[in-house]
Amino acid sequence: MGRAFVYVVLGGGVAAGYAALEFARRGGYSRGELCIISEEVAPYERPALSKGYLLPEDPSRLPKFHTCVGANDELLTTKWYKEQGIELVLGTRVISADVRRKTLLTATGETISYKTLIIATGARALKLEEFGISGSDAANICYLRNLEDADKLVNAMSSCSGGNAVVIGGGYIGMECAAALVTNKIKVTMVFPEKHCMGRLFTPKIAEFYEKYYAAKGVVFVKGTAVKSLEVSDGKVAAAILRDGRRLPADMVVVGIGARANTGLFDGQLAMERGGIKVNGRMQTSDAAVYAVGDVAAFPVALLGGDVRRFEHVDCARRTARRAIEAILEPSGGAAEEGKAFGYLPYFYSRVFALSWQFYGDNAGEAVHFGDFSPPVAGGKPKFGACWVSGGRVAGAFIEGGSPEENEAMASAVRSRAAIADLAAELGSRGLGFADEE
Ligand code: FDA
Ligand code: NAD
Repeated sequence: MGRAFVYVVLGGGVAAGYAALEFARRGGYSRGELCIISEEVAPYERPALSKGYLLPEDPSRLPKFHTCVGANDELLTTKWYKEQGIELVLGTRVISADVRRKTLLTATGETISYKTLIIATGARALKLEEFGISGSDAANICYLRNLEDADKLVNAMSSCSGGNAVVIGGGYIGMECAAALVTNKIKVTMVFPEKHCMGRLFTPKIAEFYEKYYAAKGVVFVKGTAVKSLEVSDGKVAAAILRDGRRLPADMVVVGIGARANTGLFDGQLAMERGGIKVNGRMQTSDAAVYAVGDVAAFPVALLGGDVRRFEHVDCARRTARRAIEAILEPSGGAAEEGKAFGYLPYFYSRVFALSWQFYGDNAGEAVHFGDFSPPVAGGKPKFGACWVSGGRVAGAFIEGGSPEENEAMASAVRSRAAIADLAAELGSRGLGFADEE
């Protein structure tokens, strides 16, 4: 049993959706030549799962957040794929890949062959078991990576109103889910090993602002320790036991302890770097017929002097997908120069409660803070941030509560590696003076 395509996109998440739109816009294939294989439904905007999907009132549901609405672009429903002649092979897991033969084998026993493969398999959530803690299969333990996880979380929240949730991990999932739990009237205790939340990105001063804001909403932070074991009874977690001996009673648990890129199918077949599949500036892997995009791709970033990086963020998934399709369909076009770094500006964001931050570039160098870090007074919107400076130039910038113009000013300062003095003048003119650092 088998089918043959010219182009196969393996994985059907954010990057796959943006790749499909780019293919359709460029018209670079004939009906039936392109397919997307995914374990899930048609591509959707994954960030919605920790935001609109978890709202207690009028939550967002599919088909509302299929790609590419997150970039204010077309909503690609299954009907759209049909009209475009793009085959969706959904609910289907690929269990092995043979790069030399250019074939994929699905769990249903079908062999799918390709001329060009675009790997967009994303990442998976790390499990507690990988840290030696058992109990992940308990009915009230929630991870958050896909729709099934999000539905489990929604159900757990609806039977836990007024109860206690323990959130394990102080990264993106931990912070966004803690906010959603509070909004659903659940008491939250967050546990993580670092000194402060969002340890990989936030400075202590930025983290302090968010921790105080969360604490004012009732969130309790237990920092500098980790969960040692879970107390399970009748298939449900009743408490989390910490390394320091404390016992945190729990009606439900949310786990966000990091992600790993889904590279396993290609181990030993493609070059790997930074926990992902190594690609050049055209998103092409060590095999010329295979491209990789999104969370799984480690690519040279021009802005960082060609340093190879991997980002687990939605903007990167969208842009690397477009870049790969451009390179595939226009081999001598803008993305042509083999091996040249991609002119990508790293961009991450998050929205929690009434807050919204953006980050551009690299958090390397010395951080200088600007704006007002005091807790907002009733209904007020905070506005503050930080710039990371190396050699007198802006390498990275973070801003909470920025207007579209201010966000763009930060992005362009990083893109052009502006002198910090120039950005200070720009921020000063907007009433966002640099703080006196102690
Ligand atoms: P993505 O994970 O979207 O898709 C991969 C797809 O491949 C999945 O459908 C998977 O099932 C499928 N697949 C994998 N292996 C397969 C196999 N062997 N066979 C078949 N199918 C297979 N980023 C950001 O910048 N801002 C934000 O606010 C958020 N918010 C956010 C919330 C939540 C809950 C998560 C989990 C993540 C975010 N992110 C984010 C990160 C962002 O969603 C992420 O970077 C992109 O989804 C990556 O897109 P990809 O297409 O690479 O993978
Ligand atoms: P993360 O890497 O952001 O955070 C992991 C957290 O878990 C860290 O605080 C870490 O210290 C903590 N941790 C690690 N081991 C632990 C342990 N044994 N016990 C307790 N805490 C432990 O990862 P995440 O929050 O799980 O996010 C998963 C993926 O989803 C990432 O790819 C992330 O980029 C993506 N995501 C992004 C956004 C966004 O960009 N706004 C939002 C949600 C998810």
